[in-house]
Amino acid sequence: MELMNIGVLASGRGSNFQAIIDAIESGSLKARIVLLISDNPNAFAIERARKHDIEPLVMLPSQFGTRNDYYKAVVRELRIREVGLVVLAGFMRIIGKPLIEAYRNRVMNIHPALLPSFPGLHGQKQAQDYGVRISGCTVHFVDEGMDTGPVIIQAAVPVAFEDTEESLAERILKLEHKIFPEAIRLFSEGRLEVIGRKVKIAGAAPDKSFLVFPPLD
Ligand code: GRF
Repeated sequence: MELMNIGVLASGRGSNFQAIIDAIESGSLKARIVLLISDNPNAFAIERARKHDIEPLVMLPSQFGTRNDYYKAVVRELRIREVGLVVLAGFMRIIGKPLIEAYRNRVMNIHPALLPSFPGLHGQKQAQDYGVRISGCTVHFVDEGMDTGPVIIQAAVPVAFEDTEESLAERILKLEHKIFPEAIRLFSEGRLEVIGRKVKIAGAAPDKSFLVFPPLD
């Protein structure tokens, strides 16, 4: 079977990007990352790409006339490399229409809260400030809204009164690194079907052992 080509967009440290690289290198995810696009020339994700022989491409929105021009150019780069799935791994921008339309239900994002709670920036801080007992992370397809697209996988963690934004973010991040490669794997196996705003997962249920209250170490 032909390997699926993945294009990753990242703005920062890229730990989720790394988790996907690791899943591919360990053989649990059968796909190949053909491009890393970053809007930040100082993103640590670029170092990670170089280390793993993935082509890094810095694309600054300021070099393009409009937001649409920027995303048209992004789509061009993705298409040249025959990318089948676009992964937003800490890409800190609202995605423009040209990309969403060209890759409808083929752009995935990870959000550090249980959507539809706490969308937008600082999902972990929002959850902690609100005082919820449970938070977590969500992998979803990207649509025109802010963190509103069809949900693929979610994982939950408990929130303690004593938590800080940092301690909660760290707990959530460990699960991000599990569910993001898992969602990509399901996609790569052709097992995700979007029906309305819901996602149906075909075949055997994915490993749910980490979905609820994982033990904290
Ligand atoms: C993660 O918390 C992710 O949920 C959010 O941005 C952060 C990116 O972290 N979208 P990293 O760059 O993957 O380490």
